[in-house]
Amino acid sequence: MRLPLVFISVLLCRGLAQSTVVDNYIASESPIAKAGLLANIGPSGSKSSGAKAGVVVASPSTTDPNYLFTWTRDSSLVFKVIVDQFTQGIDSSLRGLIEDFVGAESVLQQTSNPSGAITTGGLGEPKFNIDLSAFTGSWGRPQRDGSALRSTALITYANWLIKNGNASFVSDTLWPMIQLDLDYVQNNWNQSTFDLWEEINSSSFFTTAVQHRALRQGITLAQAIGQTSVVSGYTAQAENLLCFLQSYWNPSGGYMTANTGGGRSGIDSNTVLTSIHTFDSDAGCDDATFQPCSDKALLNLLTYVNSFRSVYSINSGIPTSQAAAVGRYPEDVYFNGNPWYLSTLGVAEQLYDALLVWNQQQSIMVTPTSQPFFALFQSDIAPGTYGSTTSTFSSLISSIKDYADGFVAIVADRTPADGGLSEQFDKNTGAPLSAVDLTWSYASALTAFAARGGFVPESWGAKGLTVPSICENNPGPTVSATFNVNATTVMGENIFLTGSVASLDTWSPDNALALSAANYPIWSITVDIPANTNVEYKYIRKNNGVITWESDPNNEVSTPASGTITLNDSWR
Ligand SMILES: *[C@@H]1O[C@H](CO)[C@@H](O)[C@H](O)[C@H]1NC(C)=O
Ligand SMILES: *[C@@H]1O[C@H](CO)[C@@H](O)[C@H](O)[C@H]1NC(C)=O
Ligand SMILES: *[C@@H]1O[C@H](CO)[C@@H](O)[C@H](O)[C@H]1NC(C)=O
Ligand SMILES: *[C@@H]1O[C@H](CO)[C@@H](O)[C@H](O)[C@H]1NC(C)=O
Ligand SMILES: *[C@@H]1O[C@H](CO)[C@@H](O)[C@H](O)[C@H]1NC(C)=O
Repeated sequence: MRLPLVFISVLLCRGLAQSTVVDNYIASESPIAKAGLLANIGPSGSKSSGAKAGVVVASPSTTDPNYLFTWTRDSSLVFKVIVDQFTQGIDSSLRGLIEDFVGAESVLQQTSNPSGAITTGGLGEPKFNIDLSAFTGSWGRPQRDGSALRSTALITYANWLIKNGNASFVSDTLWPMIQLDLDYVQNNWNQSTFDLWEEINSSSFFTTAVQHRALRQGITLAQAIGQTSVVSGYTAQAENLLCFLQSYWNPSGGYMTANTGGGRSGIDSNTVLTSIHTFDSDAGCDDATFQPCSDKALLNLLTYVNSFRSVYSINSGIPTSQAAAVGRYPEDVYFNGNPWYLSTLGVAEQLYDALLVWNQQQSIMVTPTSQPFFALFQSDIAPGTYGSTTSTFSSLISSIKDYADGFVAIVADRTPADGGLSEQFDKNTGAPLSAVDLTWSYASALTAFAARGGFVPESWGAKGLTVPSICENNPGPTVSATFNVNATTVMGENIFLTGSVASLDTWSPDNALALSAANYPIWSITVDIPANTNVEYKYIRKNNGVITWESDPNNEVSTPASGTITLNDSWR
């Protein structure tokens, strides 16, 4: 039986323990969330009419906002939940749906779109139409987390198939798809991306972290099925990603900066979502991968939660030791900036994951970094390790469980009587807002509830990683380009080349590359330039310090995915 909202509030007023309120909410909301999620998956979901088999509709909402599209990120997170439920034996009826997802994604991978074709950047496309055709409107693209998250969902299924004697399906069908996605990650992680909220074009913590995770899992799978040729390349870039990941930490602010661009504080739900979507209980409280119970991730959680206390009026008067409603980031103005269900549930999930590890380890370590977090529950707590026989351990476990339950209780309180979860709830009234039946909201409820119940996701290899001391970048794939220009020169005059990419010295006349006159009047140089890129360039003459540029417009070349090209120009 589902308790109506009013009844829950009455019970709470009458002093029913919060944990009981949360137990009751989970009992009633779990089947609703599961049904809500399945209703948004084609072809037979009741709210996804028009969606092809295996396509996840972000929300059935078609106006204000129109979310009747399929996003690779959302779909992959949703299917990770489905794959987990299937592979852990929670629901054996889901296999057909997983097979539909594999089919749909194999079509989408091959669908040319505004980000490119399969080998020329198309795997960075964030969003498609629900009939599996390309979405061609303008959008924040590329978004480089989708291919990583998709491979994580597929690898989790592949690992189950191998354990269950079906390695041939993995080698024949799943691996080719996974390799496309992971090659994309390997080659492109070091280029700018739109973040998971599709607003900021820079580097993004969530994207870097899920890319790192995907490559690590991919390496293990590749070794298991004998695809060893990818291992050294993936390993090199996984190391680079792990190194780069550390750079998002802002020690003075006490949080992970969500994006390297964007001109905001950088305090963002992005980071809490990262902790839960890269949780690996084998890694304990390791801070190199920002595990949920790591000191950095806990201080980050505190900073993030507190940033919304004065921003949303529904949080007013709530003491800092108690849960608050949280949204994407405090500066948010979308729908005037409100709490999100999936963000609030994400905080609860991070804390449940942390509790799981502390209980597993039978100890809690408080460091100077995490001390402010633990001080919420015991103001005089000192850094140190508190073992399971200490009263500090048991009192922290119980207070943190209460604090975590508080976030679910807020969501329970803001869930309408029919149990539907939209995207947001109003910062002043608490009423549901924006897209209805958001598939990701339902997925976030299911994963938070599972974490509270002690669900341990499959390890992805986060244990025992060492951060490299020097971070190397990865310029990505290049092509060898020979530039030939027919230019007649006078004595003492030489020809140089510069252009729009770093390997052409980014329009610098001073550092422009000198061409050889061995085949005069043809001047030549061969340079590695980025593949799959629209490159602009110009030749310049230099004569005793006098620089003369070619006339406008710039020369242009759209480089292929690999190989060599020769450009035959005449001085203009
Ligand atoms: C292997 O798994 C695939 C995908 O789920 C399935 O279609 C196929 O029937 C399985 N093969 C065997 C022999 O079980
Ligand atoms: C590329 O990697 C280097 C080294 O970690 C880093 O400094 C730089 O910010 C990265 N750039 C992007 C766009 O990822
Ligand atoms: C994103 O940023 C990169 C690096 O600054 C830039 O080259 C690219 O054009 C930008 N993309 C968009 C769509 O603004
Ligand atoms: C270079 O350009 C000049 C003038 O247009 C032309 O006469 C000559 O044939 C060209 N040389 C080569 C090698 O293409
Ligand atoms: C430039 O000339 C070479 C042979 O001299 C030829 O192979 C190549 O296709 C030419 N490139 C273009 C872009 O026409």
